[in-house]
Amino acid sequence: MEDKIRMMISEEEIAKRVGELAEQINEKYKGKEITLICILKGSIFFTADLARRLNGPVKMEYMRCSSYGDSTNSSGEVKVVIDVDCDIEGKDVIVVEDIVDTGRTLWHLMNMLKERKPQSLALAALLDKPERRVKEVAVDYVGFTIPDEFVVGYGLDFAQKHRELPYIGVVENE
Ligand code: PRP
Repeated sequence: MEDKIRMMISEEEIAKRVGELAEQINEKYKGKEITLICILKGSIFFTADLARRLNGPVKMEYMRCSSYGDSTNSSGEVKVVIDVDCDIEGKDVIVVEDIVDTGRTLWHLMNMLKERKPQSLALAALLDKPERRVKEVAVDYVGFTIPDEFVVGYGLDFAQKHRELPYIGVVENE
């Protein structure tokens, strides 16, 4: 069955908002080296677009955690599948996520990264779904606060599909 997708946030709206977040970050870090940690797979587009709007210098790192299977509900389990390959001690780190949903993934991840003693640790999330929150997570840079609907596109998937869409859409299957 083909998925029915309704557009929620357009490509233009995303680009504008990412630019605004980058401005806030540039203002705050003022030329300090920033280590961006892109959380695979969903945040590759957001990380790539955000990084290119930063004044730099920027280092890029990647992590992959597993939380969901191919379902629309979080299993509650969080495992680090791929870790960064550098020591973040003393670094100014910004974790870049596509979405904070229940908060379980980021809660575990941020606590784990804090133990590695970065100089500073912040979280940027393109999407925030506060209605779904189970674990308290402080999101420093939020792109859009959205209602509890299943979203895809701009990196986000439904059973690994639709990541390539340039916009954020809602899956409206029956
Ligand atoms: C998504 C998202 C977060 C997490 C958020 O990743 O990128 O990491 O779920 O959910 P939570 O707040 O309920 O923990 P996902 O596991 O779908 O991986 P993917 O980015 O590889 O698709």
